[in-house]
Parts: sequence; structure tokens; C-alpha cells
Amino acid sequence: MNATLKGALLGAATLFILLIVVALIVILTGGYNVAATDRHNPIVSWALTTTMNNSVRRQAAGIEPPAEFTSAMVAAGAGEYKAMCSHCHGGIGQSRAEWAEVMLPKPPPLAEAAREWDPKDVFWLVKHGVKMSGMPAFGPTHDDKTIWNIVAFVKALPEMPAEQYAGYSSDHAEEMHDHQAHEESDTPHHH
Ligand code: HEC
Repeated sequence: MNATLKGALLGAATLFILLIVVALIVILTGGYNVAATDRHNPIVSWALTTTMNNSVRRQAAGIEPPAEFTSAMVAAGAGEYKAMCSHCHGGIGQSRAEWAEVMLPKPPPLAEAAREWDPKDVFWLVKHGVKMSGMPAFGPTHDDKTIWNIVAFVKALPEMPAEQYAGYSSDHAEEMHDHQAHEESDTPHHH
């Protein structure tokens, strides 16, 4: 090994150790402000967004969507969306809840964001959620069929007229059935 190469390797190793020390100092001293009211440093912002985009597409790669999304699926997904998603993501002619306005990251309006994701990506996002972002996982509490209905609705959002959106009720049937079944089996009947 010649002297120039040795010097370069030594320089790279020193720089690497220095970066780790700086990162540790920032982590251990509270040097990075986690306030949602503070903007991300552009490098952190790039790293987080790129990680999220690539991770979702990679994780969702093997998912098989249903052959078609019927209007019955869209209608069934609408109730779920209005009950569980609209406070954060808004709707057609409906803004987010005030508290969702000040989240970081801010939940994107799905009427636009839904165009950029394949149905299998939306399915994965809804089923598993996104770490450290506030996007919840609905998989532990909802079956795949319900999640595909939500996907059908979300993918229909970009082309949906405001009147159609407004016409859907915010009932989500499944939870109500579960709730009734619970009451019937758990509570004694009074006649
Ligand atoms: C408590 C607020 C909250 C709720 C409720 C919520 N989300 Fe999210 N969602 C987020 C946030 C925050 C992000 C941004 C994540 C990121 O950028 O890392 C997000 C991201 C997404 C994305 C990816 C969009 C993009 O381009 O970044 C989709 C799709 C999505 N949510 C769908 C849903 C659906 C469907 C529901 C309801 C079943 C839902 N979300 C409920 C907060 C929420």
C-alpha cells in the first residue's frame, strides 16, 4: 500500500469517527429540537421523506390488489374514511381538524397525494402505518377486506365530485356490528 492511499484511508476513518461523535453529542445532549412547531433541518427532512417513500414501495411490492374496485367498495370505504381518516387528511371541500394542521409531518390531503401511490402502497400504508409520523396502523383492528374498501375509496378521491363526497355517511358498519355483538354477549339481558 503506498503512502498516499494510506493517508486517504486514515483521513476517511477519522472523518467517519468524527461524524459518529458529533451525532452522539447531538443525540445525547438534546441538541436536535423535536418540537413540531420547529422546521426540520433540510438534510433530516430529505432523509425521512426518502426513507418513507422507498420503504413503503419496497414493503408493498408483493401485495396483490383485487381485480377491480367496485362502487360498492368505494361506498363501503367512504364511511371508514370519514370516521377514521378525514380529521387528519381532510376530504373534498373538507379541511383537516385544527390539531392536524399543526402536526409534523402534516398529513397530506389525500385527494392529491393518492395519485402518487399504487393501490398496494395505499393498502400497506393503511395496514401498517408509518413510524414517528402520526400515521396510525389500521391492520391490527381491521381486516384486509375493510382495508381494500378504504383503498378503493382513497384511489377514487382525486376524481370525486364534492357532492358525491358529501353524500356518503360517516357510518362505519363493521365497528357498529362488533359493538352490538359485544353488548349482546357481554351484558346480561334485562327484560
Ligand atoms: C392522526 C392522524 C392520521 C390519521 C387518523 C390517518 N393518517 Fe394517514 N397520514 C398521517 C400522516 C402524518 C402522514 C404522513 C406520513 C409521512 O409523510 O411520513 C400520513 C400519510 C398517509 C398516506 C401517504 C400519503 C403521502 O403521500 O405521504 C396515506 C395514503 C394515508 N396516510 C392514508 C390514511 C388513511 C386511508 C387513513 C384512515 C384509514 C389515515 N391515513 C389516517 C396521519 C394520519
